[in-house]
Amino acid sequence: MRPVGGALGAEIGGIDASRAMAPGIADQIRAALDRHLVIFLRDQSVSLGQLKAFSTCFGELTRVPYVGGLADHPQIIAVLKEADEHNISTFGGTWHTDFSFLEHPPAASILFAEQVPAVGGDTLWANMYAAYEALSPGMQQTLAGLNAMHSGHVYGAARPPANSATSQSIRISRNNPEADVERAHPVVRVNPRTGRRALYVNPVYTTRFEDMTQHESRGLLGFLYAHCTRAEFTCRLQWAPGTIAVWDNRYSLHMAVNDYDGYRRLMYRTSTVGETPIGPAEASASSPGHG
Ligand code: SIN
Repeated sequence: MRPVGGALGAEIGGIDASRAMAPGIADQIRAALDRHLVIFLRDQSVSLGQLKAFSTCFGELTRVPYVGGLADHPQIIAVLKEADEHNISTFGGTWHTDFSFLEHPPAASILFAEQVPAVGGDTLWANMYAAYEALSPGMQQTLAGLNAMHSGHVYGAARPPANSATSQSIRISRNNPEADVERAHPVVRVNPRTGRRALYVNPVYTTRFEDMTQHESRGLLGFLYAHCTRAEFTCRLQWAPGTIAVWDNRYSLHMAVNDYDGYRRLMYRTSTVGETPIGPAEASASSPGHG
């Protein structure tokens, strides 16, 4: 195992993701994911069935809304931009955590590179524990009492504007009013196993703070987005065909860099079932010894 950045990310060698994983090895990979938040496996050759089997090392698979799965493998989505799609926005092209607007956002996401550009198309991740821990005690305390609202508005009735150019190569369903419903999650998310705290807001799905307007929320959210994506909290993956990335979707953000017009990029993604995010108040209420 080789860390790839000071804040997060590690490359793991000696694993064949196409084969059933011995329990001890699966435990080690999960421990590496816990520690590094995103792990990379190179030179993998997996069928879609094998990708699903490998993904179950990280939990039960779940289907995400608004993005159609593959006909034969509904739990897998294809993340595709064609070579002839120029000047368009791409799936995952802004910092986010997958589907944070759900009651149970996915715990882990697994992405397999089938075809990648000769240059560009990297993915970045940011460590949201590190971002939280770098804030002043006063800011940590302020945020600990706040919830933020999240919605899938990018799939909703108003977005994207009719004339906006978006990749047609990914099976996204839009104009769904359900997607506009807002759901509150704590701004400071606590890992119930360790008690460690992380920031839990992102510029794609977070709309505002609970009980505040979007206008009132904009300043502090803007600060938090700039803060948590500071270079020192991030790592970057240059893909090759056969690379698999697995990330902890609860305590990290990620974004796909859309700098490869003229090249085809095809990835397959699975997600695992997550839990309801809990904040400091719920964590201390459920901690052992609390009355
Ligand atoms: C995603 O947000 O899951 C897509 C990431 C990527 O295409 O690199």
